[in-house]
Amino acid sequence: MVQISLPKNSKIQKGKYYKDKTGSKNLRKVNVYRWDPSTGENPRIDTYEVDMNNCPSKVLDVLNKIKNEIDPSIAYRRSCAHGVCGSCAMNMDGKNGLACTKPHSEIKGDINIYPLPHLKVLKDLIGDLSTLYRQYESIEPWLKNSNNPTKTENLQSKEDRAKLDGLYECIMCACCSTSCPSYWWNGDKYLGPAVLLQAYRWIIDSRDEERKERLKKVADELKLYRCHTIMNCTNACPKGLNPAKAIASIKKMLATS
Ligand code: SF4
Ligand code: SF4
Ligand code: FES
Repeated sequence: MVQISLPKNSKIQKGKYYKDKTGSKNLRKVNVYRWDPSTGENPRIDTYEVDMNNCPSKVLDVLNKIKNEIDPSIAYRRSCAHGVCGSCAMNMDGKNGLACTKPHSEIKGDINIYPLPHLKVLKDLIGDLSTLYRQYESIEPWLKNSNNPTKTENLQSKEDRAKLDGLYECIMCACCSTSCPSYWWNGDKYLGPAVLLQAYRWIIDSRDEERKERLKKVADELKLYRCHTIMNCTNACPKGLNPAKAIASIKKMLATS
């Protein structure tokens, strides 16, 4: 079930109903979470009847159709539309994912769209990711190598490069962290699966000279060991990555070092 950080004293209300004006026989009902802090009003669920004729296949296409043809006031993030930038992450049909890669045909019945769970909502489907980005910055996600040549490539063996597979593909969409109960309750202290997967990516980079320091930095009761291996994160990742495994690998490295 989706959990949303609501504005104080607010209760989600039934919102506006936008009836189809096209006369199409191919309609779907789309329920969208709406909240605009500047109005002082409670959040609401608006319902749109969307003509699915001439609507491409993804949930993002449905939202674009609503914004372009029915209600331009709706706010959501998107950029690449190809599952690369991570900005269109939201909760669809009770599951976190990327709106630009999620086919609407996979959703039976009404299409329910909410912001990512447990983030402070800035407006409509836009969650506040500033804590997550601060945590990302804290793991210093860049190569640390005093011999880092500036004019030539910094090579590594094919085997060492292969160790980064399943990690470098992370697009920091936050689908995993916002589906993790430990991150919901301790998001200010626990780094969460997205940031820990990124931390592991740099810990095992053969070209990096600060493995020990990086490990020491995350070896913390709150930052790392709040993970209880519930696996929600891995189930939620739209890129098919396994942050729970990355976290377990960090723990193993610490236990054996
Ligand atoms: S495995 Fe760890 S990080 Fe993933 S959902 Fe569970 S507690 Fe969160
Ligand atoms: S691990 Fe997957 S779900 Fe988590 S931030 Fe990276 S791409 Fe998104
Ligand atoms: S818009 Fe870039 S991942 Fe969806």
